[in-house]
Amino acid sequence: MSTEATIDSPAAAAAKAKQNTLLSPRFYTTDYAAMDRIDVSPIRAEWDTMMAEYEGDNNHDHFQRTPEFGQEVAERFSQVSPEMRQEFLDFLISSVTSEFSGCVLYQEIAKKASNPDIKALMRYMARDESRHASFINQSLKDFGLGLDLGDVKRTKAYTYFKPKYIFYATYLSEKIGYARYITIFRQLERHPDKRFHPIFKWFERWCNDEFRHGESFALIMRSQPHLLRGGNVWWIRFFLLAVYATMYVRDHTRPMLHHAMGLDSDAYDYTVFDITTQISKQVFPVSLDTDHPAFRAGLTRLFRIQQGLDAAKAQGGVIGAIKRAGWAVAGVATFTRLYLLPVKHHALPANVRVAPAW
Ligand SMILES: [Fe+2]
Ligand SMILES: [Fe+2]
Repeated sequence: MSTEATIDSPAAAAAKAKQNTLLSPRFYTTDYAAMDRIDVSPIRAEWDTMMAEYEGDNNHDHFQRTPEFGQEVAERFSQVSPEMRQEFLDFLISSVTSEFSGCVLYQEIAKKASNPDIKALMRYMARDESRHASFINQSLKDFGLGLDLGDVKRTKAYTYFKPKYIFYATYLSEKIGYARYITIFRQLERHPDKRFHPIFKWFERWCNDEFRHGESFALIMRSQPHLLRGGNVWWIRFFLLAVYATMYVRDHTRPMLHHAMGLDSDAYDYTVFDITTQISKQVFPVSLDTDHPAFRAGLTRLFRIQQGLDAAKAQGGVIGAIKRAGWAVAGVATFTRLYLLPVKHHALPANVRVAPAW
């Protein structure tokens, strides 16, 4: 565990959700006028098929709790250790924050954009993310730790991202979200005795929403091919690495959570990277070589650096500050080395859409 404050009150849960560190989920604003200039006509047929799927809304009845839900929480979750409980709460809060981050961004774009294609898409995605966020929040409420999402929306800091950065980052977070949820679901499907909380039963249909959200950004990017070549390939490499590295470091700070599911954080993360990499070939002309020994050593080092940073922060004072600066420099150097490792190149497929087949 890191040196983070214990999550034992609604105020502590809210503080965690509003935290702005390199590893915590962020809220975004963007250039809404630029969103209006997106023209999806080059991929119109695939776009219309996708919009019909949103319209069909096959998950409209999914995010409701069954009568047994509370009973299962009482029977199974009461047996976990206090440390494990903290890791699970941390997982719930970071999940609800990132679901809600998508909800707020999509809602804002839907409200401020006038491009009818973009407006309609953003409304559907905001609908889905709002269901996801409230469903997780109900589980926090079981522990008396529910978040006031309206307050989080009003008071959390927002980061401005140009539309192209929103596309790269959000595409990846949707697809990696799918890969994370489906990997957990499949593991607990094979080992139901390790399903220590009922929320994981919802992950299969849930992650199909995330998959479709990712498809939407893939289509937007494929309709603007300049986003996927030339100097922009360096941005794609940057976002791939930033998203993978953040997930790796964050997951390794809560090893008990994966262990309880019968998963090892390292094996779980590399499975998630493999799935995400396979999917992302629909849109990105490059992918990271996550099996390369130098890549793996670099991620391990980033996690060690994070542990060093946490320890220096806990130590405080002048010595702590000097150590923190040292670890920060080491972090930038390691990230840069990872960024410059060779990547794999791919030709983009004629058909953009991929099926959620994992
Ligand atoms: Fe979601
Ligand atoms: Fe999503």
